[in-house]
Parts: sequence; structure tokens; C-alpha cells
Amino acid sequence: MLISLDRDDLHKIVVLNPKGGSGKTTLATNIAGYYSILGPPPMLVDCDPQGFSTRWVDKRPDNKSEVHGVAAFEESIAGFRTVNIETRPETETVIVDMPAGVTNDDIRYVTYDANSILIPVLPSPIDIYCASRFIAELLLNAQLDRRDCQLAVVANRTRENTNSYTALMRFLTSLKIPLLTSLRDSQNYIRAAASGLCIYELPAYQVKKDIVQMDAVTDWLDKWQTRHLGDVDLAVEGLVEDSYSDTTSMPQHIRVVG
Ligand SMILES: Nc1ncnc2c1ncn2[C@@H]1O[C@H](COP(=O)(O)OP(=O)(O)OP(=O)(O)O)[C@@H](O)[C@H]1O
Ligand SMILES: [Mg+2]
Repeated sequence: MLISLDRDDLHKIVVLNPKGGSGKTTLATNIAGYYSILGPPPMLVDCDPQGFSTRWVDKRPDNKSEVHGVAAFEESIAGFRTVNIETRPETETVIVDMPAGVTNDDIRYVTYDANSILIPVLPSPIDIYCASRFIAELLLNAQLDRRDCQLAVVANRTRENTNSYTALMRFLTSLKIPLLTSLRDSQNYIRAAASGLCIYELPAYQVKKDIVQMDAVTDWLDKWQTRHLGDVDLAVEGLVEDSYSDTTSMPQHIRVVG
């Protein structure tokens, strides 16, 4: 699915990992909550037919800051490959929550104009193996230039002293991709999700640790316009050699949704 926005001055954040249950929606909704508190209201684009992000927006209490939800999955269910999205004049940030099991084409289309791509990864050996393969494919197929520093990983529900975590760290270090933080396994995420909230909106004494961890993600996101300036020499021999030869053209726009 191609998410086509009507402006190019937006911060487009894509949260993806083809592996199910890795924490995409949890991350996407918490980021949306964070930007809604900062203002202006961000847009949360739900590409998953399960519609969990959309339900989270629907559940959001009236007295909380607004998140503008877009159920993009309705277009893909209707058979459209492209969703053209009209943003509001005040919109600055767009967060795209991707479903599990996406195709390489979908990944290429959704990431081609993304400013920030976040990949949440669970600590199990199989999840780490799949994430490593996925990241390698992403770099080779999606024409991402790592010098733009738009790709980062978030370890989710991780215990830092496990072998799997060490393996993930080693892999990411070898590719010079940042591991922003490790989000602990916390009921706070489940509580927040159930009421349309983000962890920044739960009682401070409950979420101190979670906020420190999530701040590492939001700090990285906040630097999206200048991130690449601090890190210009990230080419890793061998892996990126053929990354930019794929000249796949983008599909035509098919339909406009409001
Ligand atoms: N750090 C965490 N602590 C506790 N529970 C979590 C955490 N992260 C995610 N969860 C829970 O794990 C489940 C899966 O998370 P989530 O829905 O965010 O994953 P997903 O990648 O969006 O899944 P899908 O691939 O089905 O879209 C949810 O019930 C969520 O509340
Ligand atoms: Mg999800």
C-alpha cells in the first residue's frame, strides 16, 4: 500500500515489522499521544485491517488532546493500492501503523518518502532472526540511504542480559543502525491502550521508568530534520553496493480520501 500525503513538509513516521505482535501499534499510538500533547494534533494512519490504532483513536477521551485518525486499511480492503491522504493545514506529524505480513512492495512504497522508520523487535531468537533478515532486505530493496539516518530499532519487552538481545545489538552495530531503547514489559502499555491513552497520560508515579525509555524514541524522532547532519559516513561496505540500482517507479494514484 502506498500512503501518499498531500504535502512534503510533514514528518512522516512509519512503524513497521512484518512479524506480528512486535509492538507496532503500541509504539505508534504512544508516539501519536506524545505529539498530540505537544500539538498540533498529529495524524495516525492505520494500515492494519485489524484496526487497533483506529479503535485507540475512537476510545480517546474527549478531554485529551486530539489525534486525527485515518483508517487507511478501508481503502486496501476495497482493493486500492494507493491511499491519497489530505492532511489538515495544521498537521505536522503523520504516524503510519503498518500491519504484520506486508509484502516487499508495500514496504518499499510506504518507506520511500518516510523521514523516520521505527522497527520494534521482540527479544525471542525467532523474532530477532526475522528482524535481522527484514532489516537487511529493507536496506537492499527499499532504496534507503542510511546516511539519512531515518531507520532505527526499538527493542520491545526485552531483558537486556539475554543472548538474543546481545545478538541483536551486535547485528545492529555492524549495520550502524541505532537501537534507541529497550521498552520493558509493562502493564502500563496495556492499560493505556485500553483507554485510548499513551503512557505520558498515565499517573506519573506509575510510568516513570516507561517514560524514560519512551523518551529515547521521541528524542530521536524530534531530531528528524537534523539527524542526518550528525552522522554522514555510515556506508557499510558490501551491503549497500547495489541498494540504489532498483528504479521501480511508484504506482499511479488511484483514489483520494478525505
Ligand atoms: N512493552 C510492552 N509491555 C507490555 N505489553 C506490550 C508491550 N508492547 C506490546 N504489548 C502488548 O503486546 C500485544 C501486541 O502488541 P501490538 O499490538 O502493539 O503489536 P503489533 O506489532 O502492532 O501487532 P500486529 O502485528 O498484530 O499489528 C498487545 O496486546 C500489546 O498491548
Ligand atoms: Mg498492530
